[in-house]
Amino acid sequence: MRAEIEPGYQSGFANEFASEALPGALPQGRNSPQRAAYGLYAEQISGTAFTAPRANNRRSWLYRLRPAAVHRPFVPLAPHPSSRIVANFHDVPATPPNPLRWDPLPVPTQPTDFIEGWKTMAGNGAAEAMNGCAIHLYVANRSMTKRFFYNADAELLIVPQQGRLQIATEMGRLDLEPGEIAVLPRGVRFAVALPDGLARGYLCENFGALLRLPDLGPIGSNGLANPRDFLTPHAAYEDREGEFELVAKLNGLLWRAPLGHSPLDVVAWHGNYAPYKYDLRRFNTLGSISFDHPDPSIFLVLQSLSDTPGVDTLDFVIFPPRWLAAEDTFRPPWFHRNVASEFMGLVHGVYDAKATGFMPGGASLHNCMVGHGPDAETFERASQNDTTTPHKVSDTLAFMFETRALLRPTRFALEDAPLQADYFECWQGLSKHFNAEQR
Ligand SMILES: [Fe+2]
Repeated sequence: MRAEIEPGYQSGFANEFASEALPGALPQGRNSPQRAAYGLYAEQISGTAFTAPRANNRRSWLYRLRPAAVHRPFVPLAPHPSSRIVANFHDVPATPPNPLRWDPLPVPTQPTDFIEGWKTMAGNGAAEAMNGCAIHLYVANRSMTKRFFYNADAELLIVPQQGRLQIATEMGRLDLEPGEIAVLPRGVRFAVALPDGLARGYLCENFGALLRLPDLGPIGSNGLANPRDFLTPHAAYEDREGEFELVAKLNGLLWRAPLGHSPLDVVAWHGNYAPYKYDLRRFNTLGSISFDHPDPSIFLVLQSLSDTPGVDTLDFVIFPPRWLAAEDTFRPPWFHRNVASEFMGLVHGVYDAKATGFMPGGASLHNCMVGHGPDAETFERASQNDTTTPHKVSDTLAFMFETRALLRPTRFALEDAPLQADYFECWQGLSKHFNAEQR
């Protein structure tokens, strides 16, 4: 259906990219010539304030068959999905100070595309205030064929857990598989096809400052996620007319507008506001080679900065396959309570702090100051392990959306999602070992 749009990539993070699907489609020397080549329209999309400092400023110029304004008026998408998509977390129920964990969502019995398959689990702040984030799970079983989507609320971080996604965007196509992530900028139009029929995963809408690569401090100029491993699509376009639907998300509500052509009609573009993908297997994992389990900030992939230096609105952190070499150390994550709030997911394998119960496609939420850590079985094993030789954690890929503000679980997460009522039990077997007579 989207045969004209093939994947192709250029590498780098937020570079000044330039790409054209027809020779000479990109104007030289000016952004908006009096008449663009091939009869194209010039259009800018800005992702930051016009006056943002140069290092943060993001915008792209698109050269397209028709401007984005060419569509019929938007009307509410029916049925209204307010019960499954939340964008304002001031109105959700009280947040229990319990550790929360969920089984994977069931596969839908009805045909469900990528947009219909969103379910909001938790979040903070509000889309309209451009502050905070919303965390969703998705499960979908059909491709978007006559439908396109854009999200005015947030940039969208996609973490597939099962099934590939072919994401055709205005700037070109991204092919995504579990183990990779993608970030789709606020406002960029796209459609998602499912080559495997079924797709499941995690989404984080970032309402705030755009995701960026963290500074590395004493780590040096290389390490963690390296800029060259981020891939942005080459320009590719559809020249397709027919009856289509454009779905917009604005302040948590979905709207639909009919349009008579594919909005993926950008023949050329240049700029630094564009979708990108990243293979988490490229992450240069660092850790302790002496003793102690480091803080999880050592596994930071992307961050959204707040107004307070060193305190991020949102961190995307991964726990990938790696060697554990710390000696005379309890190697798994220790018991802890953090000021930050932690929403975790598992792409594949086993997370090294939990022996059972945290399943691929499942999720957990440990909010501000909620005590948690290894379960009893993991504690007993790690307390006895021989730490004179390194051990490789091979089959694992867990991740965390970590936030500065409290993550409020939604009514769906607390009442309808497969919440594990017995999660607290995993720590109840941690018996007292204290003996004042024996050091
Ligand atoms: Fe934690």
